[in-house]
Amino acid sequence: MKDELKEQFSKFFNKKPEYIFFCPGRVNLIGEHIDYNGGQVMPCAISLGTYLAISKNTEKKLRFRCLNFPETADLHLQTSYSKTGKEWFNYPLGVLNQFLKEGHTISGLDMLFYGNLPIAAGLSSSASIEVLTSFALQTIFQLNISRKEMAVLSKRVENEFIGLNSGIMDQFAVAMGKKDKAILLNCDTLDYEYLPFETDGYVLAIINSRKQRALAESKYNERFAECGAALKLLKKEVKAEHLCDIDLPTFQSHRHLINDEVLEKRALHVISENFRVNEAKDALRAGELFTFGKLMYASHQSLKDLYEVSGKELDTIVEFCKTYGDCIGARMTGAGFGGCGIALVKKEKFNDFAKQLVLYYEAEIGYEPEVFASEIGDGVKSL
Ligand code: GLA
Repeated sequence: MKDELKEQFSKFFNKKPEYIFFCPGRVNLIGEHIDYNGGQVMPCAISLGTYLAISKNTEKKLRFRCLNFPETADLHLQTSYSKTGKEWFNYPLGVLNQFLKEGHTISGLDMLFYGNLPIAAGLSSSASIEVLTSFALQTIFQLNISRKEMAVLSKRVENEFIGLNSGIMDQFAVAMGKKDKAILLNCDTLDYEYLPFETDGYVLAIINSRKQRALAESKYNERFAECGAALKLLKKEVKAEHLCDIDLPTFQSHRHLINDEVLEKRALHVISENFRVNEAKDALRAGELFTFGKLMYASHQSLKDLYEVSGKELDTIVEFCKTYGDCIGARMTGAGFGGCGIALVKKEKFNDFAKQLVLYYEAEIGYEPEVFASEIGDGVKSL
């Protein structure tokens, strides 16, 4: 990929790139829709991601090119930028804007991006391109910004420049990922630890439902607002800064304060999912992969019934997994409303699993999903 990028860069800009960077995407093993509620999540970086070939220029120009999309941008170096339409280059532009806002000096740049993550499939293609750009700027201009700070800065771009009220999970995962490790992240304090993800004879399968995630952004922001509303009602009697500060028994004895069936369901998902992450952590530490798998199924059920962010396509994937003897756990991953599912499948059965799942899904949904085995890789890096 590196050579191909170098060659393409030369075609676009008539010179060699000075640097090449890579940032992965992520899957979340468990702990869904709780990062923006101060909960604990368990993502890991994957081997697919986004590449950037980049060089400084002396013409005070920011030139954006991408091998995946035909749209380009050529902008004069300014002190700030705002979002223009829905084009892909808003993500790196938002990061450049954030660096300028924080007082860093930047020169002109020629940039060529390429991604092999399915776009808008719930594998964090946006966090990947944001953290990739942050890492590139920090390296090229020697800004001494830690990976953790890059994750926080990139999240700010997503919230303030792009307009999605997302939590910190995705940016943190792609900045801090480690090969064969799951990250246990406390999204309130940003304390984290690496857990061994030893799947002994099992593979982590990623299943792209290939459902277009229509309305995902507005529904995501709606869930964010619902959690805030539920918390506000609970706070009348319960001392908490986030929904995830509340434990299950306290919630059960105060849920009447919410007095709204939908908000109650949302809060119950958040609080019970946070509890499940704790159980999942214990299971991984004890090497109990079967228990971990059961928690994945329970997480999916809760996202389907209580949080209502799944959908026919993702449910069909998980239903199939439940009937397949050599699959020990499955769930949707990421924001939902389409996107991807993940499953733990016995290694030697993976090909058969994929074949049968494709047939089942196509019969139910009308088109094929994409099924692949994933490796857990490192976070953003120079190549
Ligand atoms: C998206 C967001 C994350 C997180 C997940 C759901 O990926 O970017 O911050 O909220 O959805 O867990």
